[in-house]
Amino acid sequence: MTTASPRSGIGIGINGLAKRFADRIVLDGVSLDVPAGSTMALIGPSGGGKSTLLRCLAGLEPFQQGTVAIGERTLSADANRQSLGWLRLSVGMIFQDYQLFPHMSALANVSAAPRWVGGLSAAAARDLAMDLLRKVGMDGHAAAFPGSLSGGQKQRVAIARALAMGPRVLLCDEITAALDPETKSDVLAVLEEIQRDGLTIMMVTHEIGFARRAADRVALLADGRVAETGDAREVIDRPSSERTSRFLAKVMG
Ligand SMILES: Nc1ncnc2c1ncn2[C@@H]1O[C@H](COP(=O)(O)OP(=O)(O)OP(=O)(O)O)[C@@H](O)[C@H]1O
Ligand SMILES: [Mg+2]
Repeated sequence: MTTASPRSGIGIGINGLAKRFADRIVLDGVSLDVPAGSTMALIGPSGGGKSTLLRCLAGLEPFQQGTVAIGERTLSADANRQSLGWLRLSVGMIFQDYQLFPHMSALANVSAAPRWVGGLSAAAARDLAMDLLRKVGMDGHAAAFPGSLSGGQKQRVAIARALAMGPRVLLCDEITAALDPETKSDVLAVLEEIQRDGLTIMMVTHEIGFARRAADRVALLADGRVAETGDAREVIDRPSSERTSRFLAKVMG
């Protein structure tokens, strides 16, 4: 693996997922399918469980019931360490607040996992990271530290880092929420390019216009349940659930 050629996506299947924090039910039997190579936008009110769902998919959060299938592998509530390790390598995740390593250059942020987890030589990890920084338009800032980069630049480095281990699935949690409108569209353009590579993407977003244009399917999560899911344009233009209509009326003003 010395080039940044992407691996194509694999499907996600979520079946009856239930998650509690102490006795508070946060996900209440969520079932969703994201076909390989497609994009699902996850929308819904604050506190509805969107971030928690992505964290369960990324193996960052245990759950109590149901299953998560990533490609051929299915994880249940009692997933062992080995399958969680596999999950973390197959799934890349990007957050609203970037979560870059502050003491490392953009290049080192991207090359660290391929070098130290993937076992690439220093030169191969560097070449891979440079290819990925080029892909997100940040090769001119390879030596820069996160503190000297703008929000949009940091997010583009974070995207390159999420791609560095060749994930099959990319999870994005409100990755443009902290950015101004112009920078937002730069980051969304990078995401659209990744879609063209065939990765499977699940993204939490409040950008309804982007969801309508770029996602294949949309799901609305409220109170830990899927209120509605379907073709992105159909759901956004003609929601069939009252909960979706109410939410869209609010966010679209
Ligand atoms: N670590 C935690 N411990 C206890 N409760 C939590 C924890 N993380 C999330 N919750 C609760 O779970 C519920 C769902 O939170 P989550 O962050 O998944 O919502 P969200 O849909 O992503 O909201 P937002 O749009 O504001 O980001 C909320 O009631 C939240 O308070
Ligand atoms: Mg959230």
